Amino acid sequence: MGTTDRVAVVSGAASGMGLAIARHLAARGHRVGLIDVDGGAAQRAAEELRGQGAVVTASQADVTDRSAVDAAFERVRADLGRVGIVVASAGMELFEPFVDIAVESWQRIVAVNLTGTFHCFQAAVPDMIDAKWGRMVAIASSSGQSGAARMAHYVAAKGGVIALTKSLALELARHGITVNTVSPGMIDTPMLRRAETKGDVPGVDKIAKMVVPVGRTGTADEVAAACGYLCSDEAAFTTGQTIGVNGGMVL
Ligand SMILES: NC(=O)c1ccc[n+]([C@@H]2O[C@H](COP(=O)([O-])OP(=O)(O)OC[C@H]3O[C@@H](n4cnc5c(N)ncnc54)[C@H](O)[C@@H]3O)[C@@H](O)[C@H]2O)c1
Repeated sequence: MGTTDRVAVVSGAASGMGLAIARHLAARGHRVGLIDVDGGAAQRAAEELRGQGAVVTASQADVTDRSAVDAAFERVRADLGRVGIVVASAGMELFEPFVDIAVESWQRIVAVNLTGTFHCFQAAVPDMIDAKWGRMVAIASSSGQSGAARMAHYVAAKGGVIALTKSLALELARHGITVNTVSPGMIDTPMLRRAETKGDVPGVDKIAKMVVPVGRTGTADEVAAACGYLCSDEAAFTTGQTIGVNGGMVL
């Protein structure tokens, strides 16, 4: 058994996969810093986890805002200790035909999904280099591997996340730090259900039955389980990888 009482930071921890990942890491015995742009929801998630005996702290921060991210990490260090694990799950999708993508829309999607991951990883890395141990996981998307129509900005950002983790894996390996990507397919979270309500992915369960070999959407817990492995001591020889949690939809 490895150490299970490290400090983990999860961005986008107030909902969906980020929340499931925070629960999972807390259940493994880690102290967890929850970061989300929705500060109220992050506080409620923290209360829920404390009720289950976890040691957690919650901060409101938009991952596109570097000073807010740095302040949130400082708070985690002050409340919980030096950071050993970071999971970047904060993300935002948008369905727009390429010809209609405004420059502002492109910049926002890239800022949240790609630059936000850069900010969180860079804020965490000094503690990991000092400790000669670290685990970084980015939540990308199967669309970043396969491409997707009407999502050029999102797919470009997620593809960038995959490339970022590969570069960091090479650069940080000698410091005992692994860097991996989990690329989810259709996962039943508030994000996917919002896309269904807006008509961007109509009839989620019907579509999943047709396009996902496993025949259903995945759960946030199934993503969290893959993430939990990548954040463990046992995963020391797995780095620079993209782990698809997609029911066989993208191979
Ligand atoms: N649900 C899916 O099917 C699916 C598939 C592939 C990839 N993903 C990716 O998985 C990750 C988690 O998505 P989810 O489905 O759990 O979504 P979700 O909307 O349920 O949760 C995302 C969380 O991120 C937070 N967030 C959004 N923008 C932020 C910002 N700028 N700063 C800080 N926090 C921010 C939101 O407030 C929310 O709590 C995202 O990166 C998403 O792109 C989702």
